[in-house]
Amino acid sequence: MEIEKLTDSFGARIHGLDLSIPLNREEHAELHKAWLDYQVLVIPKQKLTQEEQIKFARTWGEFPKRERYDKRAEKGTADKSIMLVSNIRENGKPIGSLPDGEMMFHTDGAYDEHPYNYTMLYALELPKTGGNTLFANMYAAYETLSDEMKLKLSDCTAHHGYYSGTVQRGQPVGHLNGEFSHPVFIEHNETGRTALFISRLLTLCINELLKEESEEILKFLFDHSEKPEFIYEHRWSLGDLVMWDNRCLNHARTDFSTSERRLLRRNVIQGKRPNRGHVRVA
Ligand code: OGA
Ligand code: MN
Repeated sequence: MEIEKLTDSFGARIHGLDLSIPLNREEHAELHKAWLDYQVLVIPKQKLTQEEQIKFARTWGEFPKRERYDKRAEKGTADKSIMLVSNIRENGKPIGSLPDGEMMFHTDGAYDEHPYNYTMLYALELPKTGGNTLFANMYAAYETLSDEMKLKLSDCTAHHGYYSGTVQRGQPVGHLNGEFSHPVFIEHNETGRTALFISRLLTLCINELLKEESEEILKFLFDHSEKPEFIYEHRWSLGDLVMWDNRCLNHARTDFSTSERRLLRRNVIQGKRPNRGHVRVA
């Protein structure tokens, strides 16, 4: 296994792995360490059946119990643990979820009491341009806040809600998938590090602040966490398996043409309710 860094601060491409074959204990531990160290891993040139992907994914924890499978487009064509992320249409209807275009920054499942630890996407069909996935380093976003801002928000919680849209925040455009409040700063339950836990798509308000100040500070935090120096932009190649840690990264998607096909196969791994992160200032 060979690790190639993707940016100065996070992200790594892992060479020399064939995920269709179960990893041995040492390989799994090595990959786990790389995941904690780099937060998003790109594993290129994979050939995975649905069953092989599920088998690999399952080695990282439990699949969510909370199932929306019955409501999803891929019901009947994919396993219950799989979400197809796709804009391909059959008889005018998308065959998968999150079909079209741009998505604002978010983290998967933040609107639930138990957000997902991990998400994995495996690329099966791709547009020629666009549909890139962006990752934002939320450890770095936390660490670079002023002491004043860290102290101001150290005991605050943020309320998250998801209305199925991809570029509308807090707009009831679809049905409400869920809503929940978590600390603004969370503790990563494996590394112990503190991360900023808000996102432009999902975070509706900071509970302890008046509406106007909450909006002002959220807008600042969204802009801050999306600064280019905290971002890795992944341009997909067929066969990429990209796996990321939702506890310390936000992700987003760039626009792409509706006339081109895009199909990725997704697994998520259940997480625990996040604890408040430790705020230390000089
Ligand atoms: C997701 C997601 C982004 C993409 O699957 O949770 O946000 O690039 N996907 O399709
Ligand atoms: Mn997502």
